[in-house]
Amino acid sequence: MLRAVYPGSFDPVTYGHYDIILRSCKIVDELIVGVLNNKAKMPLFSVEERVKMLEEVTKDLPNVRILPFDGLLVDFAKRVGADVVIRGLRAITDFEYELQMSQTNHKLAPEVETMFLTTSIEYSYLSSTTVREIAAFGGDLSQFVPEAVAEELRKKMNTKRRV
Ligand code: PNS
Repeated sequence: MLRAVYPGSFDPVTYGHYDIILRSCKIVDELIVGVLNNKAKMPLFSVEERVKMLEEVTKDLPNVRILPFDGLLVDFAKRVGADVVIRGLRAITDFEYELQMSQTNHKLAPEVETMFLTTSIEYSYLSSTTVREIAAFGGDLSQFVPEAVAEELRKKMNTKRRV
């Protein structure tokens, strides 16, 4: 039984993340998408909102579970019984950070391996930061995020405009 964790901020989940989720859940028996509740950062969406969007987007994938986490990723991976951490690599610019993170995690918990999937070419430019910016200026989100997420972004931006 191979259980993996795919961790991230997912603020919000994009088609790039979804692509990694789809491909990894075919490789492992169970995929746990770990949503970081980082108290030091000010995300656009609360951790509960990010979990809910991911649950909606992955509702037809029976071996995918969405869980929030805080603290160290390796502690979360051990707590849920995962042997592998999955990360997506979009471009060489991601590599330095990802290498450092995987090596740090390996020092902390050598029993938890990191596995990289290269992001599909059609999503290699895509990031949650870009998506938030397009949403802030009222741009068309249909190529970047599933419709349910686009709807939540529109609602969030409308609320922000009103305050
Ligand atoms: O989607 P992101 O923001 O690139 O994801 C980064 C994430 C959540 C994988 C990373 O920040 C993380 O694992 N945070 C938990 C804290 C931790 O374990 N740090 C030590 C490893 S560098």
